Amino acid sequence: MINRPRRLRSTDAIRALVRETRITPDQLIYPLFVCEGEGIRREIESMPGCFNFSVDELTGEVDRARQAGIRSVVLFGIPDHKDAAGSQAYAEDGITQKAIRAIKREVRDILVIADNCLCEYTDHGHCGVIKDGEVLNDPTLEILARTAVSQAEAGADVIAPSNMMDGFVAAIRSALDASGFEHIPIMSYAVKYASGFYGPFREAAQSTPQFGDRRGYQMDPANVREGLKEAALDLEQGADILMVKPAMPYLDVIRAVRERFDVPVAAYQVSGEYAMIKAAALRGWIDEERVVAESLTAIKRAGADMILTYFAIDIAKRMA
Ligand code: PBG
Repeated sequence: MINRPRRLRSTDAIRALVRETRITPDQLIYPLFVCEGEGIRREIESMPGCFNFSVDELTGEVDRARQAGIRSVVLFGIPDHKDAAGSQAYAEDGITQKAIRAIKREVRDILVIADNCLCEYTDHGHCGVIKDGEVLNDPTLEILARTAVSQAEAGADVIAPSNMMDGFVAAIRSALDASGFEHIPIMSYAVKYASGFYGPFREAAQSTPQFGDRRGYQMDPANVREGLKEAALDLEQGADILMVKPAMPYLDVIRAVRERFDVPVAAYQVSGEYAMIKAAALRGWIDEERVVAESLTAIKRAGADMILTYFAIDIAKRMA
Protein backbone atom coordinates (compact mmCIF):
# COMPACT_ATOMS: atom_id res chain seq x y z
CA MET A 1 0.00 0.00 0.00
CA ILE A 2 1.43 3.39 -0.93
CA ASN A 3 -0.63 5.45 1.46
CA ARG A 4 -0.55 4.41 5.07
CA PRO A 5 -1.33 7.43 7.25
CA ARG A 6 -0.74 5.26 10.31
CA ARG A 7 3.03 5.42 9.63
CA LEU A 8 3.01 8.88 11.14
CA ARG A 9 0.97 7.82 14.16
CA SER A 10 3.01 4.90 15.38
CA THR A 11 4.93 6.43 18.28
CA ASP A 12 4.58 9.38 20.56
CA ALA A 13 7.75 10.90 19.14
CA ILE A 14 6.58 10.82 15.56
CA ARG A 15 3.13 12.09 16.52
CA ALA A 16 4.78 15.03 18.26
CA LEU A 17 6.92 15.66 15.19
CA VAL A 18 3.94 16.01 12.87
CA ARG A 19 1.61 17.81 15.30
CA GLU A 20 0.07 20.86 13.64
CA THR A 21 -1.36 22.69 16.64
CA ARG A 22 0.16 23.35 20.02
CA ILE A 23 -0.98 25.01 23.20
CA THR A 24 1.58 27.11 25.00
CA PRO A 25 1.03 28.65 28.44
CA ASP A 26 2.20 32.05 27.23
CA GLN A 27 -0.84 32.28 24.96
CA LEU A 28 -3.32 31.49 27.70
CA ILE A 29 -5.04 34.26 29.62
CA TYR A 30 -6.36 33.52 33.10
CA PRO A 31 -9.64 35.28 34.06
CA LEU A 32 -10.01 36.30 37.70
CA PHE A 33 -12.84 37.74 39.80
CA VAL A 34 -11.94 40.26 42.45
CA CYS A 35 -14.23 41.43 45.25
CA GLU A 36 -14.04 43.84 48.18
CA GLY A 37 -13.01 42.71 51.64
CA GLU A 38 -10.07 40.87 53.12
CA GLY A 39 -9.07 37.25 53.31
CA ILE A 40 -11.83 36.23 50.90
CA ARG A 41 -11.42 33.18 48.70
CA ARG A 42 -15.00 32.15 47.97
CA GLU A 43 -15.55 29.30 45.56
CA ILE A 44 -18.09 29.97 42.80
CA GLU A 45 -20.71 27.26 43.07
CA SER A 46 -21.22 26.71 39.37
CA MET A 47 -17.48 26.97 38.63
CA PRO A 48 -15.71 24.52 40.95
CA GLY A 49 -12.05 25.49 41.25
CA CYS A 50 -12.74 29.19 40.52
CA PHE A 51 -13.06 31.82 43.23
CA ASN A 52 -14.00 35.34 44.12
CA PHE A 53 -10.83 36.76 45.63
CA SER A 54 -10.35 39.84 47.74
CA VAL A 55 -7.35 41.89 46.62
CA ASP A 56 -5.00 40.44 49.25
CA GLU A 57 -5.82 36.87 48.15
CA LEU A 58 -5.84 37.76 44.48
CA THR A 59 -2.18 38.69 44.30
CA GLY A 60 -1.27 35.24 45.64
CA GLU A 61 -3.36 33.59 42.96
CA VAL A 62 -1.77 35.73 40.25
CA ASP A 63 1.63 34.80 41.60
CA ARG A 64 0.66 31.12 41.47
CA ALA A 65 -0.39 31.58 37.84
CA ARG A 66 2.88 33.31 37.05
CA GLN A 67 4.87 30.51 38.68
CA ALA A 68 2.96 28.02 36.54
CA GLY A 69 4.01 29.87 33.38
CA ILE A 70 0.92 31.99 32.77
CA ARG A 71 1.92 35.50 31.74
CA SER A 72 -1.44 37.25 31.34
CA VAL A 73 -4.55 37.66 33.45
CA VAL A 74 -7.87 39.40 32.79
CA LEU A 75 -9.68 40.99 35.70
CA PHE A 76 -13.38 41.29 36.51
CA GLY A 77 -14.28 43.51 39.42
CA ILE A 78 -17.24 42.90 41.71
CA PRO A 79 -17.95 46.07 43.69
CA ASP A 80 -19.86 46.16 46.98
CA HIS A 81 -21.81 49.14 45.81
CA LYS A 82 -23.74 49.07 42.53
CA ASP A 83 -25.74 51.97 41.10
CA ALA A 84 -27.66 52.89 37.96
CA ALA A 85 -24.64 54.37 36.16
CA GLY A 86 -22.05 51.82 37.33
CA SER A 87 -19.94 54.54 38.90
CA GLN A 88 -17.62 52.12 40.68
CA ALA A 89 -16.35 51.06 37.24
CA TYR A 90 -14.36 54.28 36.92
CA ALA A 91 -13.78 55.17 40.59
CA GLU A 92 -10.14 55.75 41.35
CA ASP A 93 -10.42 53.41 44.31
CA GLY A 94 -12.79 51.05 42.47
CA ILE A 95 -12.24 47.35 43.04
CA THR A 96 -10.62 46.73 39.65
CA GLN A 97 -8.32 49.73 40.01
CA LYS A 98 -7.22 48.55 43.47
CA ALA A 99 -6.63 45.05 42.16
CA ILE A 100 -4.56 46.26 39.22
CA ARG A 101 -2.38 48.40 41.48
CA ALA A 102 -1.84 45.54 43.92
CA ILE A 103 -0.90 43.07 41.20
CA LYS A 104 1.48 45.54 39.60
CA ARG A 105 3.07 46.21 42.97
CA GLU A 106 3.39 42.61 44.08
CA VAL A 107 3.77 40.36 41.05
CA ARG A 108 6.58 40.87 38.63
CA ASP A 109 6.35 40.50 34.89
CA ILE A 110 2.65 39.84 34.52
CA LEU A 111 0.42 41.33 31.83
CA VAL A 112 -2.81 42.71 33.28
CA ILE A 113 -5.82 42.99 31.01
CA ALA A 114 -8.76 44.99 32.31
CA ASP A 115 -12.23 43.91 31.22
CA ASN A 116 -14.13 47.06 30.39
CA CYS A 117 -17.88 46.77 30.89
CA LEU A 118 -20.58 48.04 33.24
CA CYS A 119 -22.76 45.02 33.98
CA GLU A 120 -20.84 44.07 37.14
CA TYR A 121 -21.23 47.66 38.38
CA THR A 122 -24.83 48.54 37.61
CA ASP A 123 -27.69 47.74 40.00
CA HIS A 124 -29.90 46.68 37.06
CA GLY A 125 -27.18 44.36 35.67
CA HIS A 126 -27.18 45.74 32.13
CA CYS A 127 -23.99 46.74 30.34
CA GLY A 128 -25.00 50.36 29.87
CA VAL A 129 -27.13 53.16 31.24
CA ILE A 130 -30.87 52.68 31.08
CA LYS A 131 -33.70 54.97 30.13
CA ASP A 132 -37.30 53.80 29.89
CA GLY A 133 -36.15 50.19 29.87
CA GLU A 134 -33.71 50.75 26.99
CA VAL A 135 -29.92 50.46 27.13
CA LEU A 136 -28.67 53.78 25.80
CA ASN A 137 -25.69 53.59 23.47
CA ASP A 138 -23.96 56.96 23.33
CA PRO A 139 -24.27 58.00 26.99
CA THR A 140 -22.74 54.61 27.87
CA LEU A 141 -19.70 55.30 25.69
CA GLU A 142 -18.61 58.18 27.88
CA ILE A 143 -18.65 55.97 30.95
CA LEU A 144 -16.70 53.22 29.21
CA ALA A 145 -14.10 55.72 28.05
CA ARG A 146 -13.73 57.13 31.54
CA THR A 147 -13.42 53.61 32.91
CA ALA A 148 -10.70 52.73 30.41
CA VAL A 149 -8.64 55.76 31.36
CA SER A 150 -8.93 54.98 35.07
CA GLN A 151 -7.92 51.36 34.42
CA ALA A 152 -4.88 52.56 32.46
CA GLU A 153 -4.01 55.01 35.22
CA ALA A 154 -4.10 52.14 37.70
CA GLY A 155 -1.57 50.31 35.54
CA ALA A 156 -3.56 48.05 33.19
CA ASP A 157 -1.45 46.89 30.24
CA VAL A 158 -4.35 46.13 27.90
CA ILE A 159 -7.97 47.28 27.87
CA ALA A 160 -10.56 44.70 26.84
CA PRO A 161 -13.94 46.31 26.17
CA SER A 162 -16.72 43.71 26.30
CA ASN A 163 -19.92 45.66 26.34
CA MET A 164 -20.94 45.66 22.65
CA MET A 165 -22.19 49.24 22.39
CA ASP A 166 -21.75 50.67 18.88
CA GLY A 167 -18.57 52.71 18.64
CA PHE A 168 -17.10 51.50 21.94
CA VAL A 169 -13.62 50.89 20.55
CA ALA A 170 -13.40 54.37 19.00
CA ALA A 171 -14.59 55.99 22.22
CA ILE A 172 -12.04 54.14 24.32
CA ARG A 173 -9.21 54.64 21.82
CA SER A 174 -9.66 58.37 21.66
CA ALA A 175 -10.01 58.72 25.44
CA LEU A 176 -6.85 56.68 26.03
CA ASP A 177 -4.95 58.71 23.43
CA ALA A 178 -6.11 61.99 24.91
CA SER A 179 -4.82 60.92 28.32
CA GLY A 180 -1.35 59.85 27.20
CA PHE A 181 -2.14 56.14 26.91
CA GLU A 182 -1.70 55.83 23.16
CA HIS A 183 0.64 52.87 23.76
CA ILE A 184 -2.05 50.77 25.51
CA PRO A 185 -3.55 48.13 23.18
CA ILE A 186 -7.24 47.34 22.91
CA MET A 187 -8.38 43.72 22.87
CA SER A 188 -11.94 44.07 21.67
CA TYR A 189 -14.65 41.54 22.43
CA ALA A 190 -15.58 42.23 18.83
CA VAL A 191 -17.72 39.21 18.12
CA LYS A 192 -19.62 38.54 21.30
CA TYR A 193 -22.79 36.52 21.20
CA ALA A 194 -25.84 36.72 23.46
CA SER A 195 -25.07 33.33 24.94
CA GLY A 196 -26.54 30.98 27.50
CA PHE A 197 -22.96 29.88 28.17
CA TYR A 198 -22.35 32.98 30.34
CA GLY A 199 -24.65 31.67 33.08
CA PRO A 200 -22.01 30.73 35.67
CA PHE A 201 -20.11 34.01 35.08
CA ARG A 202 -23.19 35.94 36.03
CA GLU A 203 -23.32 34.03 39.31
CA ALA A 204 -19.62 34.78 39.84
CA ALA A 205 -19.92 38.47 38.98
CA GLN A 206 -23.45 38.97 40.27
CA SER A 207 -24.27 40.57 36.94
CA THR A 208 -27.52 38.93 35.84
CA PRO A 209 -29.75 41.56 34.20
CA GLN A 210 -32.65 42.39 36.53
CA PHE A 211 -35.03 42.70 33.57
CA GLY A 212 -34.89 41.64 29.94
CA ASP A 213 -31.74 40.20 28.39
CA ARG A 214 -28.69 41.30 26.40
CA ARG A 215 -29.99 40.54 22.92
CA GLY A 216 -30.34 44.23 22.14
CA TYR A 217 -26.56 44.60 22.14
CA GLN A 218 -24.90 41.18 22.08
CA MET A 219 -25.08 39.21 18.84
CA ASP A 220 -27.54 36.63 17.59
CA PRO A 221 -25.87 33.17 17.79
CA ALA A 222 -27.13 32.45 14.28
CA ASN A 223 -24.98 35.10 12.57
CA VAL A 224 -21.48 34.88 11.11
CA ARG A 225 -21.50 37.65 8.50
CA GLU A 226 -22.65 40.09 11.14
CA GLY A 227 -19.69 39.00 13.26
CA LEU A 228 -17.30 39.84 10.44
CA LYS A 229 -18.93 43.25 10.17
CA GLU A 230 -18.48 43.82 13.91
CA ALA A 231 -14.85 42.79 13.62
CA ALA A 232 -14.24 45.11 10.66
CA LEU A 233 -15.82 48.04 12.48
CA ASP A 234 -13.71 47.42 15.58
CA LEU A 235 -10.54 47.29 13.50
CA GLU A 236 -11.41 50.59 11.81
CA GLN A 237 -11.91 52.06 15.27
CA GLY A 238 -8.49 50.94 16.45
CA ALA A 239 -8.84 47.46 17.94
CA ASP A 240 -5.46 45.70 18.10
CA ILE A 241 -6.74 42.22 18.93
CA LEU A 242 -10.13 40.76 17.98
CA MET A 243 -11.95 38.38 20.28
CA VAL A 244 -14.62 35.81 19.56
CA LYS A 245 -16.76 34.67 22.47
CA PRO A 246 -17.84 32.00 23.45
CA ALA A 247 -15.23 29.72 21.89
CA MET A 248 -16.12 26.08 21.30
CA PRO A 249 -19.69 26.58 20.08
CA TYR A 250 -18.34 29.21 17.65
CA LEU A 251 -15.30 27.55 16.05
CA ASP A 252 -16.57 28.46 12.59
CA VAL A 253 -16.68 32.11 13.60
CA ILE A 254 -13.11 31.97 14.92
CA ARG A 255 -12.05 30.47 11.61
CA ALA A 256 -13.91 33.11 9.61
CA VAL A 257 -12.36 35.98 11.59
CA ARG A 258 -8.93 34.36 11.29
CA GLU A 259 -9.22 34.12 7.51
CA ARG A 260 -10.61 37.58 6.94
CA PHE A 261 -8.37 39.69 9.17
CA ASP A 262 -4.59 39.74 9.61
CA VAL A 263 -4.57 40.64 13.28
CA PRO A 264 -4.23 38.48 16.39
CA VAL A 265 -7.41 36.61 17.28
CA ALA A 266 -8.41 35.75 20.84
CA ALA A 267 -11.12 33.29 21.86
CA TYR A 268 -12.84 33.11 25.24
CA GLN A 269 -13.64 29.67 26.59
CA VAL A 270 -16.42 31.01 28.78
CA SER A 271 -17.81 30.04 32.17
CA GLY A 272 -20.48 27.70 30.77
CA GLU A 273 -17.91 25.82 28.72
CA TYR A 274 -15.82 25.44 31.86
CA ALA A 275 -18.80 24.40 33.98
CA MET A 276 -19.92 21.71 31.53
CA ILE A 277 -16.50 20.10 31.44
CA LYS A 278 -16.14 20.31 35.23
CA ALA A 279 -19.60 18.94 35.92
CA ALA A 280 -19.17 15.93 33.67
CA ALA A 281 -15.64 15.30 34.95
CA LEU A 282 -16.76 15.44 38.59
CA ARG A 283 -19.26 12.68 37.81
CA GLY A 284 -16.54 10.64 36.17
CA TRP A 285 -18.31 10.86 32.82
CA ILE A 286 -15.38 12.36 30.94
CA ASP A 287 -11.64 12.56 31.51
CA GLU A 288 -11.10 16.20 32.45
CA GLU A 289 -7.46 16.38 31.49
CA ARG A 290 -8.07 14.98 28.02
CA VAL A 291 -11.17 17.00 27.34
CA VAL A 292 -9.60 20.27 28.44
CA ALA A 293 -6.58 19.69 26.22
CA GLU A 294 -8.80 18.67 23.33
CA SER A 295 -11.10 21.67 23.69
CA LEU A 296 -8.21 24.14 23.77
CA THR A 297 -6.55 22.42 20.82
CA ALA A 298 -9.80 22.70 18.87
CA ILE A 299 -10.04 26.42 19.63
CA LYS A 300 -6.45 26.95 18.48
CA ARG A 301 -6.91 24.79 15.42
CA ALA A 302 -9.90 26.92 14.46
CA GLY A 303 -7.54 29.89 14.35
CA ALA A 304 -7.27 31.50 17.77
CA ASP A 305 -3.83 32.79 18.69
CA MET A 306 -4.64 33.23 22.36
CA ILE A 307 -7.29 31.74 24.62
CA LEU A 308 -8.92 33.10 27.73
CA THR A 309 -9.62 30.07 29.90
CA TYR A 310 -10.39 29.26 33.52
CA PHE A 311 -8.30 26.11 33.04
CA ALA A 312 -5.15 28.17 32.42
CA ILE A 313 -3.23 27.21 35.56
CA ASP A 314 -4.18 23.52 35.33
CA ILE A 315 -3.01 23.29 31.74
CA ALA A 316 0.20 25.22 32.33
CA LYS A 317 1.10 23.00 35.26
CA ARG A 318 0.50 19.87 33.28
CA MET A 319 2.74 21.12 30.53
CA ALA A 320 5.58 22.06 32.85
C1 PBG B 1 -19.43 41.28 30.38
C2 PBG B 1 -18.81 39.95 30.32
C3 PBG B 1 -19.45 38.72 30.43
C4 PBG B 1 -18.46 37.75 30.30
C5 PBG B 1 -17.26 38.40 30.14
N1 PBG B 1 -17.49 39.76 30.12
C6 PBG B 1 -20.86 38.39 30.76
C7 PBG B 1 -21.96 38.81 29.93
O1 PBG B 1 -21.82 39.39 28.86
O2 PBG B 1 -23.05 38.58 30.40
C8 PBG B 1 -18.71 36.28 30.34
C9 PBG B 1 -17.53 35.42 30.54
C10 PBG B 1 -17.85 34.04 30.92
O3 PBG B 1 -19.00 33.57 30.84
O4 PBG B 1 -16.90 33.35 31.32
N2 PBG B 1 -18.78 42.12 31.27
